Amino acid sequence: MQTDSSFTFVLFGGTGDLSMRKILPALYEAHRAGMLEASGKIIAVARHEEDRNGYLQWVNEHVKAHVSKNGIDENAWSSFLERIEYVKLDLGKAEDFVKLRDAMQDLPGTRVFYLATGPSLFVPICRALASVGLNENARIVLEKPLGYDLRSSNAINDAVGEIFAEGQIYRIDHYLGKEPVQNLLALRFGNALFEPLWRREWVESIQITIAEELGVEARGDFYDNTGALRDMVQNHLLQLLSIVAMEPPHSMDSDSVRDEKLRVLRALKPIDPRDIGKVAVRGQYHAGVIRGASVPAYATEPGVKTDSATETFVALKVEIENWRWAGVPFFLRTGKRLADRVAEIVVNFRAVPHSALGSSAPRPGANRLVIRLQPNETIRLYCLAKKPGEGMNLSSVHLDLAFDQFFKEGQMEAYQRLLLDVIHGRLALFVRRDEQEAAWKWVEPILNEWAASGKPKPYAAGTWGPAAASAMLAQHDTCWLEEEN
Ligand code: BG6
Repeated sequence: MQTDSSFTFVLFGGTGDLSMRKILPALYEAHRAGMLEASGKIIAVARHEEDRNGYLQWVNEHVKAHVSKNGIDENAWSSFLERIEYVKLDLGKAEDFVKLRDAMQDLPGTRVFYLATGPSLFVPICRALASVGLNENARIVLEKPLGYDLRSSNAINDAVGEIFAEGQIYRIDHYLGKEPVQNLLALRFGNALFEPLWRREWVESIQITIAEELGVEARGDFYDNTGALRDMVQNHLLQLLSIVAMEPPHSMDSDSVRDEKLRVLRALKPIDPRDIGKVAVRGQYHAGVIRGASVPAYATEPGVKTDSATETFVALKVEIENWRWAGVPFFLRTGKRLADRVAEIVVNFRAVPHSALGSSAPRPGANRLVIRLQPNETIRLYCLAKKPGEGMNLSSVHLDLAFDQFFKEGQMEAYQRLLLDVIHGRLALFVRRDEQEAAWKWVEPILNEWAASGKPKPYAAGTWGPAAASAMLAQHDTCWLEEEN
């Protein structure tokens, strides 16, 4: 599909890890699929003393390895490289921004500025762009983390907001670009089947898990000042929760969807600091074994303080104070160095009120919908069915929609979808400022309490986190999905 919108995509942090691993591979995939306007240009910007050829060599060495399962199509790769220019830019030098403006002078279409840099550079870059008039007819993309807490995120948003209107600002949360998250919207709002059941009368509890096998990799320094609550919960998990729980929007336009998500975030039951021990568990991994390989303790990772109190695991019980969800617990969980890499949403429906089919008691969890975001994107509906043979014996069975089997092609990585959305000016999958503020406000009492006292509970790498996370669910007569059977 050829598009008719021309663009210049300026990538700040053009030699950084994110550019190499995610952004340039996603742009390449879009190019290979013919989804980028032929005249669209990419200008990588960084401090390195490089010329265009030097930068392209860098891209050849560092980006190819991250291009998806389809591998590289050499013809498409070389025509992709033709789109790329390089501008060496020192943030402190006003003349370098003039150079950037000159490089963009004759390029038609929308200007996209993608800030794949640390948040401390967001405001200086925006101001420098404005000083040479590059904030007009432009979109700015801000990577997370956007601040460290409500105050710092407001400071960035205020300053960026003086230069760019809210409709020009694209705050990325890559979880919103994942195909199954889109499918959750299709499932909920494209079918009459699920929506009547999607409420407190029929749903007993909901679990949302993002579990990783990876540790902190080379990001120990950053992560030790961040922790799982800021890195994963404030953004990805609360965004998933808001999509699961939101009311049907009037349309899929950006503000209709974001208004509904915001309502959920504002309806989150505030956490009383005195209850934090009951509704929030934090953990930190110790040495352990994952898939047969020994992995070191978090506190010995490079860049991490040996007496670190940073959490690498969080489990929470969250409630939503509205008519649809009052009283239904949402259990959120994320962690590094866990037993498996899996991201999924589990909707547990209530048991039948009376079991007429035999002596066994009504079974909780007999009906559940599991939306697997990764790996192996699937939607699986569990039901009870009669076992073949004599008597009425029930057994759990499931109906599956495995996306890669049903739709053989056309799958898109999250970053590819989101970058195309930026180029085409579609804001629905980007986080609006008020959503971000509501999420920070909600997590802040936990951040403050954890900063003031106590330490994370230890868990061995390769397990599912501290036992306290299971105990929290046991109090509600339920367990995490992998603990069944
Ligand atoms: C990022 C976090 O936002 O998401 C990382 O900063 C985390 O710590 C990553 O590893 C997980 O994303 P995905 O798509 O690999 O599940």
